[in-house]
Amino acid sequence: MSGHGAPIPMTSHRSGGLAGTADIPGDKSISHRALILGALSVGETMVTGLLEGQDVLDTARAMRAFGAEVVRDDDGTWRIHGVGVGGFAEPDQVIDCGNSGTGVRLIMGAMATSPVTATFTGDASLNKRPMARVTDPLALFGAQAVGRSGGRLPMTIVGARDPLPVRYTVPVPSAQVKSAVLLAGLNAPGQTVVIEHEATRDHTERMLAGFGAQITTEDTAEGRIITLEGQPELSPQTIAVPRDPSSAAFPVCAALITEGSDVLVPNIGLNPTRAGLFTTLQEMGADLSYENLREEGGEPVADLRASFSPDLKGIEVPPERAASMIDEYPVLSVVAAFAQGATVMRGVKELRVKESDRIEAMATGLRANGIKVEDGPDWWIVHGRGHGDVPGGATCASHLDHRIAMSFLVMGLAANQPVTVDDGGPIATSFPIFEPLMASLGADIRRDG
Ligand code: S3P
Repeated sequence: MSGHGAPIPMTSHRSGGLAGTADIPGDKSISHRALILGALSVGETMVTGLLEGQDVLDTARAMRAFGAEVVRDDDGTWRIHGVGVGGFAEPDQVIDCGNSGTGVRLIMGAMATSPVTATFTGDASLNKRPMARVTDPLALFGAQAVGRSGGRLPMTIVGARDPLPVRYTVPVPSAQVKSAVLLAGLNAPGQTVVIEHEATRDHTERMLAGFGAQITTEDTAEGRIITLEGQPELSPQTIAVPRDPSSAAFPVCAALITEGSDVLVPNIGLNPTRAGLFTTLQEMGADLSYENLREEGGEPVADLRASFSPDLKGIEVPPERAASMIDEYPVLSVVAAFAQGATVMRGVKELRVKESDRIEAMATGLRANGIKVEDGPDWWIVHGRGHGDVPGGATCASHLDHRIAMSFLVMGLAANQPVTVDDGGPIATSFPIFEPLMASLGADIRRDG
């Protein structure tokens, strides 16, 4: 929901070795998609392991507003009675997607080819973010959008009465844009084709296939071509949401930089479109291994073991890996501060339009904590000082961005002085159990005041 409560300042203090097992909540990307595709199928979809973070709860509320029945059983199972492709009702009220770019962009896509009108809004962070990247392709289907200047929320979408199928090349590497187009394509007759030059997370494609849509993916010289047959009847599914690698990143990185740590993070989804951080950390010399590699529900899964790694080295992160770790650069930049030498991150312009401008937010906070950072429009370089030589001691602004808040709290666990974030409230959007989970590993993170 928009409007967070009063800010929750939090401070992390240098901690002894982190130890134990970190049970990570469900994947945020997959949780949004399970609710939306459940709402577009006919019959009852059951979801276990759904992330109950605020972003996903906002999407659940939105699906109810479009006519689906969405209930949570006492045992934590979610049941969704869908209305079928093209069956969305017109919401009575404004749809408030809170902090969630994924929620609003996917839902806009899902309703854009139905004859309904809906108005979307969000919190101060979401209302600054660019929406033209989805409303441009949705206009090709025949949907109309009217929003604030610069294509910002609040925004009203008038769904197309007689949608046309679309062939669209996504101009920026964005799974949200790709997914919005595919979800819109569900209620257009004929084939909708999406082309992406850089492969982004493919959960929508995998899940659409699971719900019975005809969808194919082909890697060609032109890029990855995804073709969807419109107007399928989606059959309800039973979905076990894997645990979120983007959330796992925080205890994993905390263990790597905190002396004496050894942490097990079980059952983490290692879809190759999501696992770039772990490869990067291994290249930096991290003591990080995959145990019990297996496949679950069509996704590769493993238990991660991360141990204190005193000899981390800065590296150049290959730009072509960016999409597979786009949400992990903030916490990577913290690990980079504890490595020897420079970590160079290029081809990451998209970081500037996330919940905050993540290059700016991290560079400012890292500098305040004694780390040299250089940055440009689509690159940044963190000059690491090595283990034991990261000063810390500053207060950092989290800019309504969960990943910025968690990254600086990880930094404080191994810096020489405590690190404070002005507001840890946004952490609840994606990782509501972050504080108790980190405390159970031995991390000294406290709410101030
Ligand atoms: C997401 C896609 C990414 C990512 C976001 C989740 C998704 O955004 O940053 O946290 O679930 O599709 P972009 O599509 O803007 O790259």
